[in-house]
Formats: sequence, structure tokens, C-alpha cells
Amino acid sequence: MAAEHGITIAPSILSANFGRLAEQVREAEEAGADAIHIDVMDGHFVPPITMGPLVVEAVRRATTLPLDVHLMIERPELLIEAFRKAGASNLTIHVEATPHPHRVLHEIRAAGLTAGIGLNPGTPVSAIEELLGGVDVVLVMSVNPGWGGQPFIPATVEKMRRIRTLLDEAGLPAVLEVDGGVSAKTAGACVAAGARMLVAGNAVYGAPEGVGAGMAQLRAAIAAVMGRA
Ligand code: DX5
Ligand code: ZN
Repeated sequence: MAAEHGITIAPSILSANFGRLAEQVREAEEAGADAIHIDVMDGHFVPPITMGPLVVEAVRRATTLPLDVHLMIERPELLIEAFRKAGASNLTIHVEATPHPHRVLHEIRAAGLTAGIGLNPGTPVSAIEELLGGVDVVLVMSVNPGWGGQPFIPATVEKMRRIRTLLDEAGLPAVLEVDGGVSAKTAGACVAAGARMLVAGNAVYGAPEGVGAGMAQLRAAIAAVMGRA
């Protein structure tokens, strides 16, 4: 498993077949997924509307893996309890989505979940610097959020490197996660820049030879950078 190298893979169900969601979640689990990434969009923070607590609950019933819930929504503080009840393990909010990220992150942790802070490609690292000591996850968006299957933005690799350095210099344990356009072609650069959790939608659920093959290709790309354990 990729986790042998300390790198985890979280398939994003945004690219899954929703007609057989439970089965697709189990396929990812059997293929060695370390978590399931669930993209929540509200039609305001990002144009599309996707899923909410009801889908998180359905995924919770389909797997024992941690559920990494990515909130691309305004006023995330209003839904912490609903997502907790639905079975979320981690809630990641966007720094652009609330003027009070520090308070919301604290509320997520107080609800017994791990808390992540995400930032869009156009948002500078300085926007999250003061929050790094109080988060479990830092989510670097390597595409503009809203849709699966978009091309990876190469300039975000340098951003990952800068956040990695900030975390390491301060001795902070937050997991550096990357989301958007992650594939066998781009995963290596992310890992080399210090990312430790890779979200992949299209590369897993859109893989022509299936979920297992998509996961295997990602793992091979990671192993090529990390060296085999
Ligand atoms: C985009 C979402 C991603 C998306 C990634 O707004 O946050 O999680 O599912 O999809 P791919 O891996 O296809 O870029
Ligand atoms: Zn996401």
C-alpha cells in the first residue's frame, strides 16, 4: 500500500458512478484506499451543487475507512454537527469561505473531528499561516475547486513546498494534502514537494482499466519517488 511510504491516497467519489455508489466505495477500499474523499459543494462558494450529509451517511455505511469531507461551502460552521452525525472523520473548510476560519476549525475539533484548512490556487500561503498550529490537515487545491477531471496547475507544487517547509520548521504535525488533477503523471511532483495525502477522482474512478488499476498506477508513481519500502 502507498501508506508504506507514509503517503496516503483518498479517492474522490465525485467521479464515481452514483448509481452504484456503495459498490464503488468498496472497490476503492479493496484497491487499498486509505480514506474516501467527499466533495461538498453549495452552489455559492463554487458553482455546482453536489452532496451533503445524506451521502456522507450512505458512504459511512459502505466502508470503515475514514471519511475526508471537503467543504466547498459558505458558512461551514452551520453544518459541523450534521456532518459529524453523518459519520465524517475529517472536515476541511476553505480559508476563503469564512472570515472566521480560526473559530470554525476550533469548533470542528471540539465536535471530536479532525480539522483541515484548504486554500484555492489563487490564495497565498500567508492566508493560512496563522492557522497551521491548529489544524490536522492542510489542503492545497491544485485546480480551482468545483469540478473533477481538470488539469493540474503546476505552480501549486511550489506552494506545497513552501507549506511543507513552514510545517517542518515549526515541527507541526498537520498532514499536507493535495487535491485536483492528481494522476500518475503529477503525483510524483506532489510527493517530492512534501504532500503526504493525495486526493484522486478521475485518476481512480475514470481509469479505463478500472479502480484497481487506477490505484496501482498512482502507487507506482509514488513508489518511484519515495523508493520501495
Ligand atoms: C474539485 C474537488 C476534487 C475533485 C478532484 O473541486 O475538490 O476533490 O474530485 O477530481 P480530479 O482528481 O479528477 O481532479
Ligand atoms: Zn476535494
